[in-house]
Amino acid sequence: MSLKIESLSKSFGDRLILSDITFTLQPGEFVSIIGPSGSGKSTLFHLIGGLLQPDEGQVLLEDKEITGERGHISYMPQQPSLFPWRTVLQNATLGSELTGAPNEELAKQLLQKANLGDMLKAYPHQLSGGMKQRVAFIRALLSPQSIMCLDEPFSDLDSFTKKDMQRWLLETWEQYDKSILFITHDIEEALFLSDRIIILSTNPATIKEVIEAPFSRPRSDQLYLSEEFLKWKKKVVETLL
Ligand SMILES: Nc1ncnc2c1ncn2[C@@H]1O[C@H](COP(=O)(O)OP(=O)(O)OP(=O)(O)O)[C@@H](O)[C@H]1O
Ligand SMILES: [Mg+2]
Repeated sequence: MSLKIESLSKSFGDRLILSDITFTLQPGEFVSIIGPSGSGKSTLFHLIGGLLQPDEGQVLLEDKEITGERGHISYMPQQPSLFPWRTVLQNATLGSELTGAPNEELAKQLLQKANLGDMLKAYPHQLSGGMKQRVAFIRALLSPQSIMCLDEPFSDLDSFTKKDMQRWLLETWEQYDKSILFITHDIEEALFLSDRIIILSTNPATIKEVIEAPFSRPRSDQLYLSEEFLKWKKKVVETLL
């Protein structure tokens, strides 16, 4: 499904946070959003997910207006919000349960691939930050919606764990027919994962530039070291200055 964001604006009190944000996420695309802290990235996701109402503009799914409506997008918030009274497996199947068809076998397989096979019956308080993020991601992936919004899913991780998670995320995502909108502060992460990168300005946030990441898929760690990757990294850094 395609997601269209049309001229979204949002103020809190008399502070304009987001101004005239317009872009489209095509089916199967991976698009990252980069912007300074406090620029309004999470607010944008809250508008897309229907948790907040915009002052102006529209959100369209397959050309049908869904502005301010919840439930159309699967959303992984900045803090992974697992239910503390549910086990890892029960948390992973939550999204699919809402449709009445929880797929426990698939959830188990995905958890095993994410090195959580021994933790199926554990509770969230027994997990590390990275483990919680993997469970929250699998839950979003197993939800019926075809569009996922991930808000800085790897921001709390050290760079080693982060690279493992990025690789795992790409491998898992490539087997699913889902589109991803991904918020990050990390330029390398955005380039490594995305088809396109939307760069936001701040006060208020507007779209400063959209950059295509022209690397073929599947992507491997070699990409990080290539001349081309460095060239694009420089381009993004210059845009952010
Ligand atoms: N419900 C709210 N009421 C008032 N102000 C808010 C509200 N939510 C966010 N803000 C303000 O809006 C601005 C944008 O916040 P937002 O959380 O969207 O930023 P962000 O780009 O996600 O930042 P970060 O990268 O640190 O997560 C901030 O100045 C924040 O204080
Ligand atoms: Mg945020």
